[in-house]
Amino acid sequence: MCGIFAYAGTENAVPLLIEGLRSVEYRGYDSAGISVIDSSGAIQTVKRGDHKASLENLAAAVGDGQLSGGVGIGHTRWATHGEVNQKNSHPHASTSGSVSIAHNGIIENFLELKDELVDSGIEFVSDTDSEVLAHLVGRSVANGSNLREAVISAASRISGNTAVVAVSAAEPSIVVGLRVGNAGGIVVGKNVDAAVMASDTIALLPYTCEVIYLEPGEVVEIAQGSVQLFDLEGSATKRDPVVTNQNFEAAKKGNHPHFMSKEIAEQPEAIQGAMRGRADFAAGTLSLPEISLTHDQIMAIDRVVLTGMGTSLHTGMFGASVIETLARIPSVAENSSELRYRNPVLGSNTLVIAMTQSGETADTLAAMEHARRAGAPQGVILEMEGSQATRVADFTLGVRAGQEICVASTKTMIASMTTLLELAIFLAQARGEIDANHVKEIVGQMAELPALVAKALDLNGEVTDLADRLAKYEDLLYLGRGPQLPIALEGALKMKEIAYIHAEGNPAGEMKHGMNALLGPDMATVACAPNNDLYPKMLSNISEVKARGGEVVAIVTEGDGTVERIADNVIRVPECPELLQPFMTLIPLQLLAYRTALALGRDPDKPRNLAKTVTVE
Ligand code: G6P
Repeated sequence: MCGIFAYAGTENAVPLLIEGLRSVEYRGYDSAGISVIDSSGAIQTVKRGDHKASLENLAAAVGDGQLSGGVGIGHTRWATHGEVNQKNSHPHASTSGSVSIAHNGIIENFLELKDELVDSGIEFVSDTDSEVLAHLVGRSVANGSNLREAVISAASRISGNTAVVAVSAAEPSIVVGLRVGNAGGIVVGKNVDAAVMASDTIALLPYTCEVIYLEPGEVVEIAQGSVQLFDLEGSATKRDPVVTNQNFEAAKKGNHPHFMSKEIAEQPEAIQGAMRGRADFAAGTLSLPEISLTHDQIMAIDRVVLTGMGTSLHTGMFGASVIETLARIPSVAENSSELRYRNPVLGSNTLVIAMTQSGETADTLAAMEHARRAGAPQGVILEMEGSQATRVADFTLGVRAGQEICVASTKTMIASMTTLLELAIFLAQARGEIDANHVKEIVGQMAELPALVAKALDLNGEVTDLADRLAKYEDLLYLGRGPQLPIALEGALKMKEIAYIHAEGNPAGEMKHGMNALLGPDMATVACAPNNDLYPKMLSNISEVKARGGEVVAIVTEGDGTVERIADNVIRVPECPELLQPFMTLIPLQLLAYRTALALGRDPDKPRNLAKTVTVE
């Protein structure tokens, strides 16, 4: 949503704030800004609202060393209220300029609060909801509160989920942070020279790997070498830091031109991460010790509901298909923003599995909280261990793909699919649907998966020419059946996200019920048709598209000699057991979107109007 970074320590905060913001920039890149308390004790703020160039322009603006100070806050914004420009960029100051805040979340009652503040004579300089916080905090400080009290009191006036950091000229050695609800996390850490807080652990790793994740309803005050926690009543609380498993190097681009190409290339490794310590290839067994369900609970499951948003929803659809296939439990995947509001029937026999790379997506967390209230046993499959979702779920299956920076998710999806396959095997075995020999057979197949994916990545060259062709279309149709449907949907999503081409994923069997009306030379079709029982059906669908003059890209299994007689373009993915086919077809679709984005001159890492972590509805 937005990225926050704050520093209090012995060094000049300015370059450190810029570096910190670079680490969280993927969360929002519409604007960027910092506030530091300078040697005279005044707050100096510099901000830029230049869309994707904001952070670089900000870095250039403060790069001459003129601005310095030991304490400061910074923010990168994904605009929700108010257009992208400098005045709407964070941090926002109180009228006197003695308080500055950076905020993540939506203040739902901001118009009401703004009216109240305007009536009291305060002039607003931005169109944001966040500015009300600056004035509320500023007013309390002017009335004699310390910064912590002022931030707590401001938070008590607002409705909606919020994460905020604030500095005050009256207390020039501290930064206060506060979290209410799920508007993105705040993670805090310290070493002897400094204390830091940020929206994301990765920004803290240059300082420490021992971190504290702020709970909703917690307040933190940092100063050089010190971190103090409080509740919303202002009473001091205590919690030991945890050691994070994240790796700073993993969040660098290395030799790759984009994070997306790096993350696509890392997929064989990501799959290995998801299998490490779980699949024993020598013994042909699989264990998931993280699953805290009793045998009775597992036997009682009569439905699995998988939930998530975006790519994570498509991952869940794959999960539903593989759980139903192996464990024979009715399974559905549902969009969290729908699940949370439709009062679904969930209970102690429904296993809810949430998928979320970040563990912070607002709708996914709300759906998870709903499931918890309904008494459903619940697991979460995620990358960011320690994030809020791990605290809502009964058990966590980490996907261990390594930090993903590109907004469009790739390696998290493939590692989550691997984890869901493991979950399906686990449930199937625990319920007696498959025996040890069958487990051995599937685990043996999974051992080949990293190499198979590596082979599929070799398709990069072939896909490049094709991308130039697809870049000319304004409309694309992606078709799949069965376990290939979530892959088709994901292929279309990727193309929309980063190439900005209108692309629709559809069950191939649905074409005759509407999509056929759009077929013709103006729309190309990408058909996922690997070698399985549904292949003949897909061939018929491909023929239908051709009969109406549409260009077809067929994604088939190597050795296929049939489809080339009908389709215009054929991409052959490695042959593999049927259960693993979705992993193979996914790769060329990711590559195709990436290459098409490049052909159109788009920046795949920073697609317009999108952000990696969506912490508001
Ligand atoms: C955003 C990201 C997507 C991601 C989705 C869900 O839309 O751009 O890449 O799939 O959020 O995020 P999550 O962190 O819950 O997986």
